[in-house]
Amino acid sequence: MSLSKEEVDKKYNVRPFVDPERTKEDLNPLKLDAIDLSFFEEGDENLNKRQDLANRLEKSITTHGFFNLINHGIPQETIDNLRAVSQSVLTLPYEIQKQYLASAPTKEEEVQGGEGGERGRGFKPKGYWAIKNGIRDSIHHYNFRDSCHDSFVKDKEKHPELVANHLQELADYFNHLQRDILPKLLRLCDLILNIPEGSLQKHYFAKVGTNLDDSNTHGRLMMYEPYGDEQLSQETEGTFLRGHSDMGAFTFITSQPILALQIRDVFTGKWRYIDHLEGSLIVNLGDALEFISGGYFKACLHRVIEPPLDQRKFNRLVIILFCNPSGKAILDPENIQSPKLKQLGLSKEDKLKDWETIQFNDWNQTKGKTLGRVAAGERNLVKFYGRTIERWHHLETIKN
Ligand SMILES: [Fe+2]
Repeated sequence: MSLSKEEVDKKYNVRPFVDPERTKEDLNPLKLDAIDLSFFEEGDENLNKRQDLANRLEKSITTHGFFNLINHGIPQETIDNLRAVSQSVLTLPYEIQKQYLASAPTKEEEVQGGEGGERGRGFKPKGYWAIKNGIRDSIHHYNFRDSCHDSFVKDKEKHPELVANHLQELADYFNHLQRDILPKLLRLCDLILNIPEGSLQKHYFAKVGTNLDDSNTHGRLMMYEPYGDEQLSQETEGTFLRGHSDMGAFTFITSQPILALQIRDVFTGKWRYIDHLEGSLIVNLGDALEFISGGYFKACLHRVIEPPLDQRKFNRLVIILFCNPSGKAILDPENIQSPKLKQLGLSKEDKLKDWETIQFNDWNQTKGKTLGRVAAGERNLVKFYGRTIERWHHLETIKN
């Protein structure tokens, strides 16, 4: 006889995830601008309110590329429950994990054409990525694929029993972000670009849910485990995850109190901690939306480092959704004909004349191959598909 939902949770000791207190150290974290979605109201009569929100968003996404989202409509209890499940999923015995691996044991052993630990469904093995000086990563994650396609909840047999037990709640969470929040953020971006509301959605995210090619958004449960060894801390120079930009449109991360996420400040070039805002989501912009906006919106470099001493021995747990555009979307602003971008010279007749035409799938595959390899530095300029930006340091591995 199959177990009830509660019995499955009991079997895997599902219990609340306990975060540590905020750090006592004064590390001057950056307080991101908070975008309050409760101000997003439908109807022509509320256009001014949406425009105000768009103006606020413009400041964030053309500079840091990061902001906090508040009043997003997801109850804290929902997030707490999913984090409790995530904790048990990410600590499942290896005997179970090895039946659901996303990838080869290390990036270097990855077979040509494989999805890799970044995208493959299931567990990325701890130690998959090279971090620094021969030290491997201390990160557990479990990936979902096509998290917002209608088939997602039906594929229970593709997951361990505990994940299958909560697939519906995970789908509800991911779908709220993809089908409710993302279109609102895209409409605000439309207003920033002076194009009709709905344009970005129409051209780049058309058939989410019914077409796999348009639903390659993916979710992730992710836990950073302490190195727990002074020597490892020193040899990695305190690095958990090296600097990178995300590949897609928007990334949604649950905010939590361990101070470890840093962005490279666009104004000073220095790494800065991102502050925790209770109940918020941290949202950052990825390469795809940077390209679609002709480089006006910024996909900033970010990394994860070891927490301050008073938080160092705790696991750091986040749930992430990487919202990607359609696989066939062309990543430049030609489709949307934005008067604002034209004015800024961000068109193929002007500053973007070297930009080659690329689809999101190409970008996704090519960049994925470059992540987490030993050779990649963090400060090298590389020209790629006709685009040159300092933060694309990963691409050095392609050139070599
Ligand atoms: Fe990232």
